[in-house]
Amino acid sequence: MRNFILGIVVAFVLAFVGVFFYFDLGLAPVATADKPMPMEAYFAKKALHARISRETPKRDVSGFTTADLVTGANVYQADCAFCHGLPNGTKSAAANGMFPAPPQLFTPDGMVTDDPAGLTYWKVKNGIRLTGMPGFRASLSEQQMWDVAALLARADKLPPEATSALKPAVVDPPDPPAANPSASSPAVTAPEWKDARQISPAELAKKLSGPAAGRPVVLQVGFKVLYEGGHVPGAIFAGPASTAEGAARLKTEAGKIARDKEVVIYCGCCPWEKCPNVHPAYDELRKMGFSRLVVLLIPQDFAHDWIGAGFPVQRGR
Ligand code: HEC
Repeated sequence: MRNFILGIVVAFVLAFVGVFFYFDLGLAPVATADKPMPMEAYFAKKALHARISRETPKRDVSGFTTADLVTGANVYQADCAFCHGLPNGTKSAAANGMFPAPPQLFTPDGMVTDDPAGLTYWKVKNGIRLTGMPGFRASLSEQQMWDVAALLARADKLPPEATSALKPAVVDPPDPPAANPSASSPAVTAPEWKDARQISPAELAKKLSGPAAGRPVVLQVGFKVLYEGGHVPGAIFAGPASTAEGAARLKTEAGKIARDKEVVIYCGCCPWEKCPNVHPAYDELRKMGFSRLVVLLIPQDFAHDWIGAGFPVQRGR
């Protein structure tokens, strides 16, 4: 009996020493390209499943509308595509170098269409520890997390509106340095709004997809329903400047922006020179001292000249 107990103790000590040296001597895999540890995948999966099956919310997402899926697609485009890829897109360099690899969620092998949406929602909300999968509970709303879960549940049969929101963004090479240094100095705001500097939708979309330093602040100075229906990604709702309430909101929002920052304003309810909002907004911002004020050229309206032309759109608040 004594020997038996001794045997057990020795076995434990040896096992402990073995594990200690395995880590201490640098035998354990730590690079993403290393082979997995013995039973690593098994334990990781087991722990994950045990936790998730306790917490997965049940929700039928088959009733989610096209608009919900488009919201999901915009979230995906902004927060997930970098690792999980787009339909027909290629894998990013980061995705190629991760362990575990992020499944490409729009390829037949990577789709999670068989998972209940609640499972995907849980993963989006909480992330998966010790993998590259971030948790989004602090950065996305409940609705956004469900919308993206619903999108992935239906990844193989999406409505065309959602698919078109998942097109790869056109990335332009950075602009070459200006040959003439004065050409890159900030344009001075014209005193007359009719002489205002103008930017075309294509030029603005290009700037917004370019390096962060070159992106202007975009203020939507139109009506709220227009803004919620779809706006330039990242645009701030500054209120219709033709109303007293809108003008007050514009002052508050603009007050937070550095005066030498390039600011693009648009409304989009109608052609820009006829618009009731762009003109007063321009005058107000000029008074506030913005030195690089630009008006987005909208020959007809936002729906036609921006959304209809296929530029990226963000919906909701
Ligand atoms: C920085 C990279 C990265 C980003 C960004 C990212 N993920 Fe992940 N994701 C991963 C990795 C890596 C895994 C694999 C984890 C594993 O193997 O356990 C994963 C796993 C998943 C899974 C589980 C897939 C399966 O087959 O079970 C889902 C679903 C998922 N991610 C959805 C999303 C969504 C939705 C977003 C955006 C809101 C997102 N991820 C953003 C890296 C990322």
